Amino acid sequence: MAGFQTIIYEKGDGIAWITLNRPQVLNAYNLKMRDELYQVLGAIRDDPEVNVIVLKGAGERAFCAGADLTEFLTAPSPIIARQVRWERDVWGLFLSLPQPAIAALHGYVLGDGIEMALCCDLRIASEDAQFGMPEVGLGIIPAAGGTQTLPRLIGRGRALEMLLTGRRINAQEAYKAKLVNQVVPREKMLPTVQKIAGKIASYDQRAIRAAKQAIVRGLDLPLSQGLALEKRLASLLPYYSD
Ligand code: COA
Repeated sequence: MAGFQTIIYEKGDGIAWITLNRPQVLNAYNLKMRDELYQVLGAIRDDPEVNVIVLKGAGERAFCAGADLTEFLTAPSPIIARQVRWERDVWGLFLSLPQPAIAALHGYVLGDGIEMALCCDLRIASEDAQFGMPEVGLGIIPAAGGTQTLPRLIGRGRALEMLLTGRRINAQEAYKAKLVNQVVPREKMLPTVQKIAGKIASYDQRAIRAAKQAIVRGLDLPLSQGLALEKRLASLLPYYSD
């Protein structure tokens, strides 16, 4: 797949690399990027050659500085703009991918940037990463799943603090809050992500997908149903023993 304007898509050795590619505006998320991500994630979902997805940002300064504010200000109304975004449910698609996804986070990770990272299963940050949810300062709330995915990951109190105050946190604080799995020096970030992705890609993908599904779907279930889900998924694997 090629010819995108706002993203770069590359594939090799079982790993799909998606690069948000608007570095001149800190990879701000616009409608074109929404459409291109929707297209590429849809293709990845059904691609048996993709075992792991990596999402990263182009340029030195940001993973993604949030929604494109120029589009936001010219939209008929924020509510309509958000509605249009939801009609193409890129976030629902992202969250339902069977393959694990890893976010490689550097520089500014704001608004939609955090929300995209939250659609991924693992988050690796470089030491210079800065995280923030500036939405309420703009009179809106996150609408790419962030109000739901953030508290599920870092807890209600911390999520509310980030949303209500808009305070930015650095990589170490994000690590302590469990927002990211690891913090590494900038030059080590992509090699680290590549190594983790390679490891996951090398395993039996039936087990990998079952493990992801058991945890991600199970978290939304009561324990008894979660255990039934685990049993069902385990029984589909070749080495099942009960
Ligand atoms: N939408 C559109 N353009 C953006 C953008 C966004 N969310 N974030 C940054 N840019 C553009 C800037 O307009 C600037 O473009 P220019 O060079 O043509 O003027 C370029 O990216 C570089 O940003 P700049 O503001 O000059 O860098 P900075 O280091 O001074 O500040 C930020 C960096 C991230 C603190 C600042 O750009 C910012 O606050 N961005 C908006 C964050 C935001 O509110 N996102 C929306 C969340 S819903």
